[in-house]
Amino acid sequence: MAQPIFPWLGGKRRLAPILLSRFPEHSCYVEVFAGAAAFFFLREPAEVEVLNDLDGDVINLYRVVQHHLEEFVRQFRWALSSRQVFGWLSDTPTHTLTDIQRAARFYYLQTNGFGGRVKSRTFGTRTTSPPSLNLLRLEETLSAAHLRLSGAYVENLDWQTCVAKYDRTHTFMYLDPPFWETEGYSRPFAFEEYGQMADILKRLKGRAIVSLNDHPEMRRLFTDFQQETVDVRYTAGGRGSSVRRTELIIYSWDRRQDPQRISPKTVRAK
Ligand SMILES: C[S@@+](CC[C@H](N)C(=O)[O-])C[C@H]1O[C@@H](n2cnc3c(N)ncnc32)[C@H](O)[C@@H]1O
Repeated sequence: MAQPIFPWLGGKRRLAPILLSRFPEHSCYVEVFAGAAAFFFLREPAEVEVLNDLDGDVINLYRVVQHHLEEFVRQFRWALSSRQVFGWLSDTPTHTLTDIQRAARFYYLQTNGFGGRVKSRTFGTRTTSPPSLNLLRLEETLSAAHLRLSGAYVENLDWQTCVAKYDRTHTFMYLDPPFWETEGYSRPFAFEEYGQMADILKRLKGRAIVSLNDHPEMRRLFTDFQQETVDVRYTAGGRGSSVRRTELIIYSWDRRQDPQRISPKTVRAK
Protein backbone atom coordinates (compact mmCIF):
# COMPACT_ATOMS: atom_id res chain seq x y z
CA MET A 1 0.00 0.00 0.00
CA ALA A 2 1.21 3.53 -0.81
CA GLN A 3 1.98 6.00 1.97
CA PRO A 4 1.95 9.81 2.11
CA ILE A 5 5.29 10.92 0.65
CA PHE A 6 6.11 14.01 2.74
CA PRO A 7 5.37 15.30 6.25
CA TRP A 8 2.74 18.06 6.25
CA LEU A 9 1.31 20.29 8.94
CA GLY A 10 -2.13 18.91 9.82
CA GLY A 11 -1.52 15.61 7.98
CA LYS A 12 -4.36 13.16 8.71
CA ARG A 13 -2.61 9.77 8.86
CA ARG A 14 -3.78 9.18 12.47
CA LEU A 15 -7.39 9.89 11.64
CA ALA A 16 -7.46 7.54 8.66
CA PRO A 17 -8.35 4.24 10.42
CA ILE A 18 -11.48 5.83 11.91
CA LEU A 19 -12.68 8.09 9.14
CA LEU A 20 -12.08 5.74 6.21
CA SER A 21 -14.65 3.39 7.72
CA ARG A 22 -17.21 6.26 7.72
CA PHE A 23 -16.93 6.94 3.97
CA PRO A 24 -20.25 6.37 2.13
CA GLU A 25 -20.55 4.57 -1.20
CA HIS A 26 -19.18 6.58 -4.11
CA SER A 27 -17.40 6.17 -7.44
CA CYS A 28 -15.68 9.57 -7.54
CA TYR A 29 -13.48 10.64 -4.60
CA VAL A 30 -12.24 14.21 -4.17
CA GLU A 31 -9.70 15.41 -1.60
CA VAL A 32 -10.38 19.11 -1.74
CA PHE A 33 -7.58 20.19 0.65
CA ALA A 34 -5.16 17.39 -0.20
CA GLY A 35 -1.86 18.46 1.42
CA ALA A 36 0.02 15.19 1.98
CA ALA A 37 -3.21 13.37 1.02
CA ALA A 38 -3.04 10.78 3.81
CA PHE A 39 -6.51 9.37 3.11
CA PHE A 40 -5.90 9.15 -0.64
CA PHE A 41 -2.73 7.12 -0.18
CA LEU A 42 -4.05 4.91 2.62
CA ARG A 43 -7.44 4.03 1.13
CA GLU A 44 -8.44 1.55 -1.55
CA PRO A 45 -8.57 3.39 -4.91
CA ALA A 46 -11.94 4.70 -6.12
CA GLU A 47 -12.92 4.54 -9.80
CA VAL A 48 -12.18 8.26 -10.26
CA GLU A 49 -9.97 10.26 -7.90
CA VAL A 50 -9.14 13.94 -7.60
CA LEU A 51 -6.44 15.61 -5.51
CA ASN A 52 -6.68 19.35 -5.09
CA ASP A 53 -4.67 21.92 -3.15
CA LEU A 54 -4.08 25.63 -3.57
CA ASP A 55 -0.40 25.24 -2.68
CA GLY A 56 1.49 25.14 -5.98
CA ASP A 57 4.52 23.33 -4.49
CA VAL A 58 2.34 20.43 -3.32
CA ILE A 59 0.61 20.02 -6.66
CA ASN A 60 3.84 20.40 -8.64
CA LEU A 61 5.40 17.57 -6.58
CA TYR A 62 2.46 15.26 -7.32
CA ARG A 63 2.67 16.06 -11.05
CA VAL A 64 6.41 15.43 -11.14
CA VAL A 65 6.08 12.11 -9.27
CA GLN A 66 3.25 11.21 -11.69
CA HIS A 67 5.22 12.02 -14.86
CA HIS A 68 8.98 12.32 -14.19
CA LEU A 69 9.75 9.91 -11.37
CA GLU A 70 13.17 8.74 -12.61
CA GLU A 71 14.50 12.25 -13.16
CA PHE A 72 13.12 13.31 -9.78
CA VAL A 73 14.89 10.46 -7.98
CA ARG A 74 18.14 11.34 -9.82
CA GLN A 75 18.07 14.78 -8.17
CA PHE A 76 18.75 13.05 -4.84
CA ARG A 77 21.66 10.83 -5.90
CA TRP A 78 24.21 12.74 -3.83
CA ALA A 79 21.88 14.51 -1.43
CA LEU A 80 22.95 14.97 2.19
CA SER A 81 20.69 15.89 5.07
CA SER A 82 22.57 19.05 5.83
CA ARG A 83 21.60 22.22 7.66
CA GLN A 84 23.59 24.26 5.15
CA VAL A 85 21.92 22.73 2.07
CA PHE A 86 18.57 23.17 3.83
CA GLY A 87 19.34 26.89 4.24
CA TRP A 88 20.43 27.29 0.60
CA LEU A 89 17.29 25.60 -0.68
CA SER A 90 15.04 27.62 1.65
CA ASP A 91 16.55 30.79 0.18
CA THR A 92 16.16 29.68 -3.46
CA PRO A 93 13.28 31.48 -5.23
CA THR A 94 11.10 28.83 -6.90
CA HIS A 95 10.64 30.84 -10.11
CA THR A 96 14.35 30.23 -10.90
CA LEU A 97 13.82 26.43 -10.93
CA THR A 98 12.44 23.92 -13.42
CA ASP A 99 9.38 21.93 -12.26
CA ILE A 100 11.59 18.94 -11.38
CA GLN A 101 14.06 21.09 -9.41
CA ARG A 102 11.15 22.83 -7.69
CA ALA A 103 9.63 19.49 -6.69
CA ALA A 104 13.03 18.25 -5.40
CA ARG A 105 13.49 21.46 -3.37
CA PHE A 106 10.05 21.15 -1.80
CA TYR A 107 10.50 17.44 -1.04
CA TYR A 108 13.93 18.07 0.52
CA LEU A 109 12.62 20.90 2.71
CA GLN A 110 9.55 18.98 3.89
CA THR A 111 11.42 15.76 4.71
CA ASN A 112 14.30 17.53 6.47
CA GLY A 113 12.21 20.25 8.09
CA PHE A 114 10.75 20.22 11.58
CA GLY A 115 7.16 19.03 12.10
CA GLY A 116 5.96 19.23 8.46
CA ARG A 117 5.83 23.02 8.75
CA VAL A 118 5.28 25.00 5.58
CA LYS A 119 5.91 28.59 6.67
CA SER A 120 9.15 29.47 8.54
CA ARG A 121 10.62 25.98 8.17
CA THR A 122 13.57 25.00 10.36
CA PHE A 123 16.02 22.11 9.92
CA GLY A 124 14.90 19.15 12.08
CA THR A 125 17.33 16.76 13.82
CA ARG A 126 16.76 13.91 16.32
CA THR A 127 19.10 11.89 18.51
CA THR A 128 16.76 8.86 18.39
CA SER A 129 16.41 8.24 14.65
CA PRO A 130 18.33 8.93 11.42
CA PRO A 131 17.25 11.63 8.92
CA SER A 132 13.86 11.10 7.26
CA LEU A 133 15.41 11.56 3.81
CA ASN A 134 16.37 7.93 3.20
CA LEU A 135 18.10 7.63 -0.18
CA LEU A 136 18.02 3.82 -0.11
CA ARG A 137 14.24 3.73 0.20
CA LEU A 138 13.45 6.81 -1.87
CA GLU A 139 12.76 5.04 -5.15
CA GLU A 140 10.67 2.32 -3.51
CA THR A 141 8.50 4.79 -1.55
CA LEU A 142 7.99 7.07 -4.50
CA SER A 143 7.30 4.23 -6.95
CA ALA A 144 4.25 3.20 -4.90
CA ALA A 145 3.06 6.82 -4.88
CA HIS A 146 3.75 7.11 -8.63
CA LEU A 147 1.50 4.11 -9.34
CA ARG A 148 -1.19 5.43 -7.03
CA LEU A 149 -1.06 8.91 -8.58
CA SER A 150 -1.05 7.68 -12.17
CA GLY A 151 -4.84 7.38 -12.30
CA ALA A 152 -5.73 10.58 -10.44
CA TYR A 153 -6.70 14.08 -11.56
CA VAL A 154 -4.43 16.62 -9.90
CA GLU A 155 -5.89 20.11 -9.49
CA ASN A 156 -4.53 23.41 -8.17
CA LEU A 157 -7.84 25.22 -7.54
CA ASP A 158 -9.32 27.17 -4.67
CA TRP A 159 -11.66 24.90 -2.72
CA GLN A 160 -14.92 26.52 -3.88
CA THR A 161 -14.06 26.01 -7.57
CA CYS A 162 -12.98 22.43 -6.95
CA VAL A 163 -16.22 21.55 -5.12
CA ALA A 164 -18.37 23.13 -7.85
CA LYS A 165 -16.43 21.33 -10.62
CA TYR A 166 -16.69 17.81 -9.24
CA ASP A 167 -19.98 17.75 -7.29
CA ARG A 168 -22.18 14.94 -8.64
CA THR A 169 -24.58 12.48 -6.97
CA HIS A 170 -21.85 9.78 -7.20
CA THR A 171 -19.13 12.04 -5.74
CA PHE A 172 -17.80 11.92 -2.19
CA MET A 173 -15.56 14.74 -0.98
CA TYR A 174 -13.26 14.92 2.00
CA LEU A 175 -12.71 18.51 3.12
CA ASP A 176 -9.88 19.06 5.56
CA PRO A 177 -9.38 22.84 5.61
CA PRO A 178 -6.74 24.60 7.72
CA PHE A 179 -7.84 24.61 11.36
CA TRP A 180 -9.56 27.76 12.62
CA GLU A 181 -7.13 29.97 14.56
CA THR A 182 -4.14 27.88 13.46
CA GLU A 183 -1.53 29.44 11.21
CA GLY A 184 1.13 27.83 9.14
CA TYR A 185 0.09 27.32 5.49
CA SER A 186 1.19 29.45 2.59
CA ARG A 187 -2.13 31.43 2.56
CA PRO A 188 -4.48 32.53 5.34
CA PHE A 189 -7.93 30.92 5.57
CA ALA A 190 -10.66 33.43 6.53
CA PHE A 191 -13.37 32.72 9.12
CA GLU A 192 -16.07 33.52 6.51
CA GLU A 193 -14.89 30.58 4.41
CA TYR A 194 -16.08 28.08 7.04
CA GLY A 195 -19.57 29.67 6.96
CA GLN A 196 -19.50 29.52 3.18
CA MET A 197 -18.55 25.85 3.44
CA ALA A 198 -21.59 25.12 5.63
CA ASP A 199 -23.84 26.80 3.02
CA ILE A 200 -22.26 24.88 0.15
CA LEU A 201 -22.66 21.61 2.06
CA LYS A 202 -26.43 22.14 2.29
CA ARG A 203 -26.71 22.37 -1.49
CA LEU A 204 -24.34 19.52 -2.34
CA LYS A 205 -25.57 16.88 -4.84
CA GLY A 206 -23.05 14.33 -3.56
CA ARG A 207 -21.82 13.69 -0.01
CA ALA A 208 -19.00 15.14 2.03
CA ILE A 209 -17.12 14.83 5.31
CA VAL A 210 -15.44 17.90 6.80
CA SER A 211 -12.84 17.67 9.58
CA LEU A 212 -12.09 20.71 11.73
CA ASN A 213 -10.64 21.56 15.11
CA ASP A 214 -13.28 21.16 17.81
CA HIS A 215 -14.04 24.83 18.48
CA PRO A 216 -17.41 26.24 19.70
CA GLU A 217 -17.55 28.57 16.68
CA MET A 218 -17.14 25.63 14.31
CA ARG A 219 -19.84 23.62 16.11
CA ARG A 220 -22.15 26.59 15.78
CA LEU A 221 -21.49 27.21 12.09
CA PHE A 222 -22.17 23.56 11.23
CA THR A 223 -25.06 23.12 13.66
CA ASP A 224 -27.44 21.86 10.93
CA PHE A 225 -25.27 18.79 10.30
CA GLN A 226 -24.53 15.59 12.20
CA GLN A 227 -21.31 16.01 14.15
CA GLU A 228 -18.91 13.64 15.86
CA THR A 229 -15.72 14.23 17.84
CA VAL A 230 -12.58 12.14 17.53
CA ASP A 231 -9.55 12.31 19.86
CA VAL A 232 -6.29 12.10 17.96
CA ARG A 233 -2.82 11.74 19.44
CA TYR A 234 -0.08 13.59 17.53
CA THR A 235 3.64 13.34 18.15
CA ALA A 236 4.99 16.65 19.36
CA GLY A 237 8.57 17.32 18.31
CA GLY A 238 11.41 14.84 18.38
CA ARG A 239 11.37 13.67 22.01
CA GLY A 240 8.71 11.00 21.61
CA SER A 241 6.16 13.11 23.51
CA SER A 242 2.62 13.42 22.19
CA VAL A 243 -0.37 15.73 22.45
CA ARG A 244 -4.07 14.89 22.22
CA ARG A 245 -6.31 16.97 20.03
CA THR A 246 -10.02 16.68 19.46
CA GLU A 247 -11.23 16.93 15.89
CA LEU A 248 -14.78 17.75 14.90
CA ILE A 249 -16.21 15.63 12.09
CA ILE A 250 -19.15 16.99 10.09
CA TYR A 251 -21.32 14.77 7.88
CA SER A 252 -23.21 16.39 5.00
CA TRP A 253 -25.84 13.62 4.87
CA ASP A 254 -28.12 11.86 7.33
CA ARG A 255 -26.06 8.93 8.57
CA ARG A 256 -29.05 7.33 10.27
CA GLN A 257 -29.96 6.04 6.79
CA ASP A 258 -26.57 4.31 6.38
CA PRO A 259 -26.51 0.49 6.46
CA GLN A 260 -23.76 0.26 9.14
CA ARG A 261 -24.58 3.09 11.47
CA ILE A 262 -22.42 4.10 14.41
CA SER A 263 -23.68 6.24 17.25
CA PRO A 264 -22.14 9.74 17.39
CA LYS A 265 -19.69 9.84 20.31
CA THR A 266 -16.08 10.55 21.06
CA VAL A 267 -13.71 8.05 19.50
CA ARG A 268 -10.00 7.71 20.30
CA ALA A 269 -7.45 7.32 17.53
CA LYS A 270 -4.12 5.77 18.58
C1 LIG B 1 -5.15 20.53 7.10
S1 LIG B 1 -4.24 20.62 5.62
C2 LIG B 1 -4.73 19.17 4.77
C3 LIG B 1 -3.97 17.97 5.29
C4 LIG B 1 -4.22 16.70 4.51
N1 LIG B 1 -5.54 16.16 4.73
C5 LIG B 1 -3.16 15.65 4.81
O1 LIG B 1 -3.48 14.50 5.11
O2 LIG B 1 -1.98 16.02 4.75
C6 LIG B 1 -5.07 21.91 4.73
C7 LIG B 1 -4.62 22.11 3.28
O3 LIG B 1 -5.46 23.09 2.66
C8 LIG B 1 -4.71 23.80 1.67
N2 LIG B 1 -5.43 25.06 1.42
C9 LIG B 1 -5.44 26.19 2.16
N3 LIG B 1 -6.28 27.09 1.65
C10 LIG B 1 -6.86 26.52 0.55
C11 LIG B 1 -7.85 26.94 -0.39
N4 LIG B 1 -8.41 28.16 -0.31
N5 LIG B 1 -8.23 26.07 -1.37
C12 LIG B 1 -7.64 24.84 -1.47
N6 LIG B 1 -6.69 24.37 -0.60
C13 LIG B 1 -6.30 25.21 0.39
C14 LIG B 1 -3.33 23.97 2.35
O4 LIG B 1 -2.32 24.18 1.37
C15 LIG B 1 -3.19 22.62 3.10
O5 LIG B 1 -2.49 21.69 2.31
